[in-house]
Amino acid sequence: MAYKGKAVMAAAGSLVLLAAAVGIQAAVTGPDFDQGVAAKPALAAAKAAARLEGALSGVEQAPPPPEEGVVWISVGKDDLTHPSGVDIPLGAPVMSSARASVYRVTEDRLPAIAEQMHDKFHKCGGFFAHGTREEAAKDLQAPPPAAAVAFTVDQGAVVRPIVAKAQEAEIRSTIETLAAYNNRYYTADTGVQAAQWIGARWSQLAKNMPGASLRMVTHSGWKQPSVVLTVPGSEKPEEIVVLGGHLDSISGWGGGGGARAPGADDNASGIATLTEAVRLLGEAGFRPKRTLQFMGYAAEEVGLRGSADIAKQYKAAGTKVVAVIQFDMTNYPGSGEPIFLLTDNVDPSLTAHLKKLVEAYTGVPAAETRCGYGCSDHASWTRSGYPASAAFESAFDTMNHQIHTDRDTLGNAGGDARHSVAFAKLATAFAIETAKPAGAAGLAPASR
Ligand code: BES
Ligand code: ZN
Repeated sequence: MAYKGKAVMAAAGSLVLLAAAVGIQAAVTGPDFDQGVAAKPALAAAKAAARLEGALSGVEQAPPPPEEGVVWISVGKDDLTHPSGVDIPLGAPVMSSARASVYRVTEDRLPAIAEQMHDKFHKCGGFFAHGTREEAAKDLQAPPPAAAVAFTVDQGAVVRPIVAKAQEAEIRSTIETLAAYNNRYYTADTGVQAAQWIGARWSQLAKNMPGASLRMVTHSGWKQPSVVLTVPGSEKPEEIVVLGGHLDSISGWGGGGGARAPGADDNASGIATLTEAVRLLGEAGFRPKRTLQFMGYAAEEVGLRGSADIAKQYKAAGTKVVAVIQFDMTNYPGSGEPIFLLTDNVDPSLTAHLKKLVEAYTGVPAAETRCGYGCSDHASWTRSGYPASAAFESAFDTMNHQIHTDRDTLGNAGGDARHSVAFAKLATAFAIETAKPAGAAGLAPASR
Protein backbone atom coordinates (compact mmCIF):
# COMPACT_ATOMS: atom_id res chain seq x y z
CA MET A 1 0.00 0.00 0.00
CA ALA A 2 1.42 3.35 -0.98
CA TYR A 3 1.54 6.19 1.51
CA LYS A 4 -1.33 8.62 1.45
CA GLY A 5 -0.77 10.30 4.78
CA LYS A 6 -2.37 9.54 8.10
CA ALA A 7 -2.30 10.96 11.56
CA VAL A 8 -1.59 9.11 14.74
CA MET A 9 0.37 10.56 17.57
CA ALA A 10 0.76 7.75 20.00
CA ALA A 11 3.17 9.29 22.45
CA ALA A 12 3.03 6.89 25.37
CA GLY A 13 3.67 8.73 28.62
CA SER A 14 6.30 6.23 29.66
CA LEU A 15 9.29 6.69 31.92
CA VAL A 16 12.04 8.50 30.08
CA LEU A 17 15.65 7.64 30.63
CA LEU A 18 17.14 10.88 29.53
CA ALA A 19 19.82 12.04 31.87
CA ALA A 20 20.75 14.92 29.58
CA ALA A 21 17.59 16.74 30.57
CA VAL A 22 18.59 16.76 34.20
CA GLY A 23 22.30 17.30 33.80
CA ILE A 24 23.41 13.73 34.47
CA GLN A 25 25.02 13.42 31.10
CA ALA A 26 28.45 14.86 31.90
CA ALA A 27 30.14 11.57 32.72
CA VAL A 28 29.07 9.90 29.49
CA THR A 29 31.62 10.43 26.78
CA GLY A 30 30.88 7.58 24.38
CA PRO A 31 27.97 5.55 23.13
CA ASP A 32 26.31 3.49 25.85
CA PHE A 33 25.69 0.52 23.60
CA ASP A 34 25.15 -2.32 26.03
CA GLN A 35 21.45 -2.13 26.84
CA GLY A 36 21.81 -4.64 29.67
CA VAL A 37 24.68 -2.83 31.31
CA ALA A 38 23.00 0.49 30.63
CA ALA A 39 19.81 -0.49 32.41
CA LYS A 40 20.96 0.17 35.97
CA PRO A 41 22.43 3.65 35.58
CA ALA A 42 19.59 4.48 33.23
CA LEU A 43 17.07 3.48 35.87
CA ALA A 44 18.85 5.62 38.43
CA ALA A 45 18.77 8.54 36.00
CA ALA A 46 15.10 7.99 35.37
CA LYS A 47 14.36 7.98 39.07
CA ALA A 48 16.37 11.17 39.49
CA ALA A 49 14.44 12.70 36.62
CA ALA A 50 11.16 11.64 38.17
CA ARG A 51 12.19 13.16 41.52
CA LEU A 52 13.15 16.38 39.78
CA GLU A 53 9.85 16.44 37.95
CA GLY A 54 8.05 16.06 41.29
CA ALA A 55 10.15 18.81 42.83
CA LEU A 56 9.47 21.17 39.94
CA SER A 57 5.75 20.66 40.03
CA GLY A 58 5.62 20.79 43.81
CA VAL A 59 3.95 17.38 43.92
CA GLU A 60 5.31 15.11 46.66
CA GLN A 61 3.76 11.74 45.88
CA ALA A 62 4.41 9.70 42.72
CA PRO A 63 1.73 9.90 39.99
CA PRO A 64 -0.53 6.86 39.59
CA PRO A 65 1.19 4.04 37.68
CA PRO A 66 0.23 3.41 34.06
CA GLU A 67 -2.51 0.82 33.53
CA GLU A 68 -1.14 -2.21 31.69
CA GLY A 69 -2.11 -2.22 28.01
CA VAL A 70 -4.18 0.98 28.20
CA VAL A 71 -3.45 4.29 26.52
CA TRP A 72 -5.19 7.64 26.81
CA ILE A 73 -5.60 9.36 23.48
CA SER A 74 -5.90 13.12 23.14
CA VAL A 75 -7.34 14.52 19.95
CA GLY A 76 -7.37 18.21 19.06
CA LYS A 77 -10.87 19.65 18.47
CA ASP A 78 -9.79 20.68 14.98
CA ASP A 79 -8.90 17.07 14.25
CA LEU A 80 -11.92 15.48 15.87
CA THR A 81 -14.06 15.34 12.83
CA HIS A 82 -13.52 15.27 9.17
CA PRO A 83 -14.75 18.43 7.39
CA SER A 84 -17.67 16.30 6.30
CA GLY A 85 -18.57 15.82 9.98
CA VAL A 86 -17.81 12.07 10.23
CA ASP A 87 -16.75 11.01 13.74
CA ILE A 88 -13.39 9.35 14.44
CA PRO A 89 -14.03 5.76 15.68
CA LEU A 90 -12.89 6.18 19.29
CA GLY A 91 -16.14 5.92 21.25
CA ALA A 92 -17.17 8.56 23.80
CA PRO A 93 -14.50 10.88 25.27
CA VAL A 94 -13.73 10.58 28.98
CA MET A 95 -12.70 14.26 29.23
CA SER A 96 -13.07 17.29 26.97
CA SER A 97 -12.16 20.95 26.77
CA ALA A 98 -12.60 23.62 24.11
CA ARG A 99 -9.24 22.50 22.76
CA ALA A 100 -9.22 18.69 22.82
CA SER A 101 -10.88 15.46 23.95
CA VAL A 102 -9.38 12.43 25.69
CA TYR A 103 -10.33 8.80 24.99
CA ARG A 104 -9.35 5.56 26.78
CA VAL A 105 -8.39 2.69 24.46
CA THR A 106 -6.37 -0.51 24.72
CA GLU A 107 -2.89 -0.24 23.25
CA ASP A 108 -3.43 -3.13 20.84
CA ARG A 109 -6.07 -1.06 19.05
CA LEU A 110 -3.61 1.70 18.09
CA PRO A 111 -2.53 0.33 14.69
CA ALA A 112 -6.14 -0.38 13.73
CA ILE A 113 -7.30 3.07 14.86
CA ALA A 114 -4.45 4.60 12.88
CA GLU A 115 -5.42 2.68 9.80
CA GLN A 116 -9.11 3.50 10.14
CA MET A 117 -8.29 7.16 10.56
CA HIS A 118 -5.96 7.02 7.63
CA ASP A 119 -8.51 5.41 5.35
CA LYS A 120 -11.36 7.61 6.50
CA PHE A 121 -9.68 10.93 6.93
CA HIS A 122 -6.56 10.66 4.78
CA LYS A 123 -4.43 13.36 6.27
CA CYS A 124 -6.90 14.81 8.78
CA GLY A 125 -7.15 13.90 12.44
CA GLY A 126 -3.94 13.70 14.52
CA PHE A 127 -3.88 12.13 17.93
CA PHE A 128 -1.41 11.51 20.72
CA ALA A 129 -1.51 8.50 23.01
CA HIS A 130 -0.31 8.76 26.61
CA GLY A 131 0.50 6.18 29.25
CA THR A 132 -1.71 7.79 31.90
CA ARG A 133 -4.94 9.74 32.10
CA GLU A 134 -3.04 12.57 33.87
CA GLU A 135 -0.61 12.93 30.97
CA ALA A 136 -3.46 13.01 28.46
CA ALA A 137 -5.33 15.61 30.53
CA LYS A 138 -2.46 18.07 30.02
CA ASP A 139 -3.41 18.24 26.35
CA LEU A 140 -6.76 19.77 27.26
CA GLN A 141 -4.89 23.02 27.97
CA ALA A 142 -2.90 25.07 25.47
CA PRO A 143 0.92 24.66 25.69
CA PRO A 144 2.85 27.48 27.39
CA PRO A 145 4.14 30.20 25.06
CA ALA A 146 7.45 29.36 23.41
CA ALA A 147 10.63 31.06 24.70
CA ALA A 148 11.39 34.09 22.59
CA VAL A 149 14.91 34.18 21.24
CA ALA A 150 15.95 36.57 18.49
CA PHE A 151 17.12 34.57 15.49
CA THR A 152 19.75 36.33 13.37
CA VAL A 153 21.73 35.50 10.25
CA ASP A 154 25.17 37.14 10.52
CA GLN A 155 27.80 34.40 10.40
CA GLY A 156 28.30 34.17 6.65
CA ALA A 157 32.09 34.17 6.89
CA VAL A 158 31.99 31.08 9.11
CA VAL A 159 29.08 29.29 7.43
CA ARG A 160 29.97 29.60 3.76
CA PRO A 161 33.32 27.76 3.68
CA ILE A 162 31.90 24.97 5.83
CA VAL A 163 28.70 24.32 3.85
CA ALA A 164 30.71 24.40 0.62
CA LYS A 165 32.19 21.05 1.67
CA ALA A 166 28.87 19.17 1.73
CA GLN A 167 29.24 15.92 -0.21
CA GLU A 168 26.50 14.04 -2.03
CA ALA A 169 28.54 10.80 -1.83
CA GLU A 170 28.73 11.00 1.97
CA ILE A 171 24.98 11.43 2.30
CA ARG A 172 24.35 8.65 -0.23
CA SER A 173 26.62 6.28 1.67
CA THR A 174 24.75 6.89 4.95
CA ILE A 175 21.38 6.32 3.26
CA GLU A 176 22.67 3.08 1.71
CA THR A 177 24.02 1.81 5.03
CA LEU A 178 20.78 2.51 6.89
CA ALA A 179 18.54 1.17 4.10
CA ALA A 180 20.53 -2.10 4.11
CA TYR A 181 19.12 -3.07 7.53
CA ASN A 182 16.12 -5.32 6.93
CA ASN A 183 14.12 -2.67 8.73
CA ARG A 184 14.60 -0.16 11.54
CA TYR A 185 11.31 -0.99 13.22
CA TYR A 186 11.13 0.09 16.84
CA THR A 187 10.74 -3.46 18.20
CA ALA A 188 13.19 -5.20 15.84
CA ASP A 189 16.80 -6.14 16.63
CA THR A 190 17.82 -4.45 13.38
CA GLY A 191 16.08 -1.31 14.64
CA VAL A 192 18.37 -1.34 17.67
CA GLN A 193 21.45 -2.13 15.58
CA ALA A 194 20.74 0.76 13.21
CA ALA A 195 20.48 3.15 16.19
CA GLN A 196 23.81 1.83 17.49
CA TRP A 197 25.42 2.36 14.11
CA ILE A 198 24.21 5.99 14.06
CA GLY A 199 25.53 6.54 17.59
CA ALA A 200 28.95 5.17 16.70
CA ARG A 201 29.10 7.21 13.49
CA TRP A 202 28.09 10.50 15.16
CA SER A 203 30.53 9.87 17.97
CA GLN A 204 33.37 9.31 15.53
CA LEU A 205 32.51 12.35 13.40
CA ALA A 206 32.19 14.65 16.45
CA LYS A 207 35.58 13.76 17.96
CA ASN A 208 37.09 17.10 16.97
CA MET A 209 34.34 19.18 18.64
CA PRO A 210 35.40 20.05 22.21
CA GLY A 211 33.41 18.21 24.88
CA ALA A 212 31.13 16.36 22.45
CA SER A 213 29.36 13.39 24.03
CA LEU A 214 26.98 10.71 22.82
CA ARG A 215 24.08 9.20 24.70
CA MET A 216 21.84 6.31 23.72
CA VAL A 217 18.48 7.21 25.27
CA THR A 218 16.61 4.15 26.47
CA HIS A 219 12.80 4.30 26.37
CA SER A 220 10.52 2.21 28.50
CA GLY A 221 8.05 0.13 26.49
CA TRP A 222 10.20 -0.75 23.47
CA LYS A 223 13.80 -1.60 22.80
CA GLN A 224 14.94 0.85 20.13
CA PRO A 225 16.87 3.73 21.73
CA SER A 226 17.01 7.31 20.55
CA VAL A 227 20.46 8.78 19.87
CA VAL A 228 21.56 12.18 21.23
CA LEU A 229 24.87 13.84 20.37
CA THR A 230 25.64 16.87 22.54
CA VAL A 231 28.15 19.59 21.69
CA PRO A 232 28.30 21.83 24.76
CA GLY A 233 27.99 25.60 24.39
CA SER A 234 30.84 27.79 25.58
CA GLU A 235 28.82 30.82 26.75
CA LYS A 236 25.18 29.79 27.07
CA PRO A 237 25.37 26.04 27.66
CA GLU A 238 21.89 25.98 29.19
CA GLU A 239 20.34 27.19 25.91
CA ILE A 240 19.89 24.18 23.62
CA VAL A 241 19.53 24.08 19.85
CA VAL A 242 18.14 20.74 18.63
CA LEU A 243 18.52 19.21 15.17
CA GLY A 244 16.56 15.98 14.79
CA GLY A 245 15.02 13.33 12.60
CA HIS A 246 13.60 9.88 13.21
CA LEU A 247 15.78 6.83 12.79
CA ASP A 248 13.08 4.13 12.66
CA SER A 249 11.30 2.76 9.60
CA ILE A 250 8.06 0.86 9.05
CA SER A 251 6.38 -1.21 6.40
CA GLY A 252 2.62 -1.01 6.21
CA TRP A 253 0.40 0.44 8.84
CA GLY A 254 0.43 -2.49 11.24
CA GLY A 255 4.22 -2.63 11.04
CA GLY A 256 5.47 -6.07 12.01
CA GLY A 257 8.99 -6.71 13.23
CA GLY A 258 10.08 -8.81 10.23
CA ALA A 259 8.80 -6.87 7.23
CA ARG A 260 11.33 -5.33 4.86
CA ALA A 261 11.32 -1.56 5.39
CA PRO A 262 14.37 0.10 3.85
CA GLY A 263 13.06 3.58 4.68
CA ALA A 264 15.68 5.12 2.40
CA ASP A 265 13.76 8.36 2.10
CA ASP A 266 11.68 7.95 5.29
CA ASN A 267 13.89 8.63 7.09
CA ALA A 268 17.41 7.44 6.30
CA SER A 269 17.63 10.65 4.25
CA GLY A 270 16.95 12.87 7.28
CA ILE A 271 19.48 11.00 9.42
CA ALA A 272 22.00 11.19 6.57
CA THR A 273 21.35 14.94 6.35
CA LEU A 274 22.09 15.34 10.06
CA THR A 275 25.13 13.04 9.79
CA GLU A 276 26.60 15.20 7.04
CA ALA A 277 26.12 18.31 9.21
CA VAL A 278 27.93 16.56 12.09
CA ARG A 279 30.72 15.59 9.68
CA LEU A 280 31.12 19.16 8.40
CA LEU A 281 31.03 20.73 11.87
CA GLY A 282 33.37 18.04 13.22
CA GLU A 283 35.85 18.55 10.41
CA ALA A 284 35.81 22.30 11.16
CA GLY A 285 36.24 21.67 14.90
CA PHE A 286 33.19 23.87 15.45
CA ARG A 287 32.63 25.22 18.97
CA PRO A 288 29.17 26.73 19.64
CA LYS A 289 28.15 29.40 22.15
CA ARG A 290 24.85 27.62 22.79
CA THR A 291 24.65 23.84 23.23
CA LEU A 292 23.91 21.81 20.11
CA GLN A 293 22.06 18.51 20.31
CA PHE A 294 21.67 16.19 17.33
CA MET A 295 18.84 13.71 17.86
CA GLY A 296 17.92 10.50 16.07
CA TYR A 297 14.47 9.66 17.44
CA ALA A 298 13.21 6.13 18.01
CA ALA A 299 9.66 5.00 17.27
CA GLU A 300 8.37 7.98 15.28
CA GLU A 301 6.41 5.77 12.90
CA VAL A 302 4.25 4.40 15.70
CA GLY A 303 3.18 7.81 16.97
CA LEU A 304 6.15 10.15 17.55
CA ARG A 305 6.90 8.17 20.69
CA GLY A 306 10.68 8.69 21.07
CA SER A 307 10.53 12.44 20.48
CA ALA A 308 7.48 12.83 22.71
CA ASP A 309 9.31 11.07 25.54
CA ILE A 310 12.29 13.38 25.15
CA ALA A 311 10.30 16.60 24.74
CA LYS A 312 8.13 15.81 27.77
CA GLN A 313 11.20 15.04 29.85
CA TYR A 314 12.90 18.30 28.83
CA LYS A 315 9.76 20.20 29.68
CA ALA A 316 9.45 18.49 33.08
CA ALA A 317 13.09 19.33 33.86
CA GLY A 318 12.67 22.95 32.73
CA THR A 319 15.30 22.52 30.03
CA LYS A 320 15.63 25.62 27.87
CA VAL A 321 15.40 24.51 24.25
CA VAL A 322 15.53 27.66 22.09
CA ALA A 323 14.97 26.05 18.68
CA VAL A 324 14.25 22.64 17.14
CA ILE A 325 14.56 21.74 13.47
CA GLN A 326 13.18 18.48 12.08
CA PHE A 327 14.44 16.66 9.00
CA ASP A 328 12.01 13.95 7.93
CA MET A 329 12.35 13.02 4.22
CA THR A 330 14.88 15.13 2.34
CA ASN A 331 15.82 13.18 -0.78
CA TYR A 332 12.87 12.83 -3.15
CA PRO A 333 12.57 15.91 -5.37
CA GLY A 334 8.85 15.52 -6.01
CA SER A 335 8.40 19.28 -6.53
CA GLY A 336 11.79 20.14 -7.99
CA GLU A 337 14.67 21.77 -6.20
CA PRO A 338 13.14 23.93 -3.40
CA ILE A 339 13.35 23.16 0.29
CA PHE A 340 9.78 23.14 1.63
CA LEU A 341 9.13 24.53 5.10
CA LEU A 342 6.10 23.23 6.95
CA THR A 343 3.58 25.87 7.98
CA ASP A 344 1.50 23.96 10.53
CA ASN A 345 2.46 22.68 13.99
CA VAL A 346 5.55 24.92 13.76
CA ASP A 347 6.86 28.16 15.26
CA PRO A 348 6.36 30.97 12.69
CA SER A 349 9.37 33.07 13.75
CA LEU A 350 11.65 30.03 13.63
CA THR A 351 10.28 29.13 10.21
CA ALA A 352 11.01 32.69 9.05
CA HIS A 353 14.59 32.16 10.30
CA LEU A 354 14.84 28.90 8.32
CA LYS A 355 13.62 30.67 5.18
CA LYS A 356 16.45 33.20 5.52
CA LEU A 357 18.97 30.40 6.03
CA VAL A 358 17.72 28.51 2.97
CA GLU A 359 18.03 31.66 0.88
CA ALA A 360 21.45 32.63 2.23
CA TYR A 361 23.25 29.30 2.22
CA THR A 362 21.68 26.41 0.32
CA GLY A 363 21.65 27.56 -3.30
CA VAL A 364 18.00 26.51 -3.68
CA PRO A 365 14.77 28.47 -3.14
CA ALA A 366 12.54 28.16 -0.08
CA ALA A 367 8.90 27.17 -0.46
CA GLU A 368 6.08 26.33 1.92
CA THR A 369 3.79 23.37 2.42
CA ARG A 370 1.38 22.01 4.99
CA CYS A 371 1.04 18.52 6.45
CA GLY A 372 -2.39 19.21 7.86
CA TYR A 373 -1.61 17.29 11.06
CA GLY A 374 1.28 16.53 13.43
CA CYS A 375 3.06 14.44 10.85
CA SER A 376 6.50 14.18 12.44
CA ASP A 377 8.62 14.77 15.55
CA HIS A 378 8.55 18.58 15.42
CA ALA A 379 4.92 18.24 16.60
CA SER A 380 6.17 16.58 19.83
CA TRP A 381 8.27 19.65 20.61
CA THR A 382 5.57 22.10 19.58
CA ARG A 383 3.11 20.31 21.82
CA SER A 384 5.53 20.57 24.75
CA GLY A 385 5.71 24.33 24.20
CA TYR A 386 9.08 24.58 22.42
CA PRO A 387 9.77 26.48 19.16
CA ALA A 388 10.05 23.80 16.46
CA SER A 389 9.98 23.88 12.67
CA ALA A 390 10.56 21.40 9.86
CA ALA A 391 12.13 21.22 6.40
CA PHE A 392 10.64 18.79 3.88
CA GLU A 393 11.57 17.39 0.47
CA SER A 394 8.58 18.59 -1.59
CA ALA A 395 5.09 19.94 -1.47
CA PHE A 396 3.08 17.56 0.72
CA ASP A 397 0.99 16.24 -2.17
CA THR A 398 3.99 15.39 -4.34
CA MET A 399 6.12 13.67 -1.72
CA ASN A 400 7.55 10.20 -2.18
CA HIS A 401 4.56 7.84 -2.24
CA GLN A 402 6.69 4.71 -1.82
CA ILE A 403 7.31 5.40 1.86
CA HIS A 404 6.15 2.78 4.38
CA THR A 405 6.67 0.05 1.75
CA ASP A 406 9.56 -2.18 0.67
CA ARG A 407 9.89 0.15 -2.32
CA ASP A 408 11.25 3.09 -0.30
CA THR A 409 14.72 2.60 -1.75
CA LEU A 410 17.39 5.00 -2.92
CA GLY A 411 16.81 3.74 -6.48
CA ASN A 412 13.19 4.87 -6.27
CA ALA A 413 14.28 8.37 -5.23
CA GLY A 414 16.57 8.86 -8.23
CA GLY A 415 19.50 6.67 -7.12
CA ASP A 416 21.54 9.50 -5.64
CA ALA A 417 21.44 11.95 -2.71
CA ARG A 418 21.59 15.19 -4.68
CA HIS A 419 18.36 16.62 -3.28
CA SER A 420 19.58 16.09 0.30
CA VAL A 421 22.74 18.15 -0.20
CA ALA A 422 20.89 21.47 0.18
CA PHE A 423 19.25 20.13 3.36
CA ALA A 424 22.67 19.24 4.79
CA LYS A 425 23.76 22.82 4.07
CA LEU A 426 20.63 24.08 5.82
CA ALA A 427 21.29 21.84 8.85
CA THR A 428 24.87 23.03 9.10
CA ALA A 429 23.97 26.70 8.67
CA PHE A 430 21.14 26.33 11.18
CA ALA A 431 23.54 24.85 13.76
CA ILE A 432 26.07 27.66 13.30
CA GLU A 433 23.67 30.58 13.02
CA THR A 434 21.35 29.49 15.84
CA ALA A 435 23.97 28.31 18.34
CA LYS A 436 26.53 30.92 17.13
CA PRO A 437 30.28 30.33 17.04
CA ALA A 438 32.26 30.71 20.28
CA GLY A 439 35.00 33.38 20.37
CA ALA A 440 37.54 33.52 17.52
CA ALA A 441 34.90 32.14 15.12
CA GLY A 442 34.45 29.01 17.22
CA LEU A 443 36.72 26.91 15.07
CA ALA A 444 39.57 24.60 16.07
CA PRO A 445 43.03 26.06 15.23
CA ALA A 446 43.59 23.67 12.30
CA SER A 447 40.42 24.91 10.62
CA ARG A 448 40.96 28.65 10.93
N1 BES B 1 7.75 10.91 7.06
C1 BES B 1 6.44 10.56 7.41
C2 BES B 1 5.37 11.56 7.01
C3 BES B 1 5.72 12.98 6.82
C4 BES B 1 5.11 13.61 5.81
C5 BES B 1 6.58 13.70 7.65
C6 BES B 1 5.37 14.92 5.58
C7 BES B 1 6.86 15.03 7.41
C8 BES B 1 6.24 15.65 6.37
C9 BES B 1 6.34 10.24 8.88
O1 BES B 1 7.37 9.40 9.27
C10 BES B 1 5.03 9.54 9.12
O2 BES B 1 4.75 8.54 8.55
N2 BES B 1 4.23 10.10 10.00
C11 BES B 1 2.96 9.53 10.33
C12 BES B 1 2.36 10.25 11.50
C13 BES B 1 2.80 9.70 12.83
C14 BES B 1 2.15 10.51 13.91
C15 BES B 1 2.58 8.22 12.97
C16 BES B 1 2.00 9.70 9.17
O3 BES B 1 2.13 10.64 8.40
O4 BES B 1 1.10 8.90 9.07
ZN1 ZN C 1 9.18 9.94 8.43
